[in-house]
Amino acid sequence: MIGKICGTGSYIPSLVWDNEKLAQLVETDDEWIRERTGIARRHLIDGEETTSYMAAQAAGEALKDAGVRPEEVDLIVVATMSSQNIMPCTACEVQNVIGAVNAACFDLNAACTGFLFALNTAQAYLGQGIYKTAVVIGTESLSNMVNWEDRSTCILFGDGAGAVVLKASEDGRYSQVTYSDGSKGDVLTCSSRNQKKFEDEPRDGSTYMQMDGGEVFKFAVSKVPEAVRELLDQEQMTTEEIAYYILHQANVRIVRSVAKRLGEKAEKFPTNMEEYGNTSSASIPILLDELNKKKTFQSGDFIVLSGFGGGLTYGASLIRW
Ligand code: ACO
Repeated sequence: MIGKICGTGSYIPSLVWDNEKLAQLVETDDEWIRERTGIARRHLIDGEETTSYMAAQAAGEALKDAGVRPEEVDLIVVATMSSQNIMPCTACEVQNVIGAVNAACFDLNAACTGFLFALNTAQAYLGQGIYKTAVVIGTESLSNMVNWEDRSTCILFGDGAGAVVLKASEDGRYSQVTYSDGSKGDVLTCSSRNQKKFEDEPRDGSTYMQMDGGEVFKFAVSKVPEAVRELLDQEQMTTEEIAYYILHQANVRIVRSVAKRLGEKAEKFPTNMEEYGNTSSASIPILLDELNKKKTFQSGDFIVLSGFGGGLTYGASLIRW
């Protein structure tokens, strides 16, 4: 048994901060941000919106798309590093909102690779025959974690959530490779969560997200192609057989470099960071949902998902649509 994606959903907050808005906060400009990152805008939570609120909206939409009733859900796994509470976990909050009364629920944190780890976890439950239906969600309120006075990080991130519904199936296909390198943990850190937003009192800079951007860049462009090649070798497949690569949406230059290193056409690497920035664990499911809604995928398409981020962590998964 393998979990097949049979529905997708997402939630994007309506408050938009474009690059011009950031240029009012820190010394930067639209041209620099677009050229170095491919990002033009990011959506940020506002009012009642929280990490779990967005997750529940995305999950509800995915269930609707899949034609699955909330009571049929056996498992909810949420990938996040920005839950508003330590407990209850975000997955339990989602369960309560959507009425998935029969589901076992928990969160996991593997930063921007979180969605892949969550997908692997759900696949393990489904593969063992323990559960039949799972909802896997990536959701982040990174606007609460970034220092809006630090131009090297605040230009990169945004908020949002994406979700997929998996149903155990005889004809599914799934394979994965994931790695972690804790010795490089200090390249991307955040020592405290549930931070205050820019409008509130500034806090000690060290508790916000800190990043060695150059190191993350080098890490991503070397490890992502390595993981994809290993995945394809494992499955005895070639790049020609892959219809699309859905990469974590951190930086368009990273995506282009990975495509080049794999000898693949850029068209096979859709991007949406221009609109949303880097939404960490939410970026892969948001892009999946966007492409699903556009009916980009054909039934039977092989798709590679790949993420990288804090930990450091990275990995790649193969799915068949
Ligand atoms: N606006 C204008 N100038 C800036 C800005 C800004 N927002 N930020 C930095 N600069 C300046 C620097 O101070 C530097 O100036 P100097 O030459 O006078 O010292 C110059 O621009 C170049 O800075 P670099 O850091 O070398 O710029 P680079 O081309 O490497 O781009 C960036 C920086 C965009 C952060 C890039 O390194 C990157 O995207 N790295 C990957 C980051 C990433 O993906 N992080 C998320 C990981 S996922 C997760 O788990 C959260």
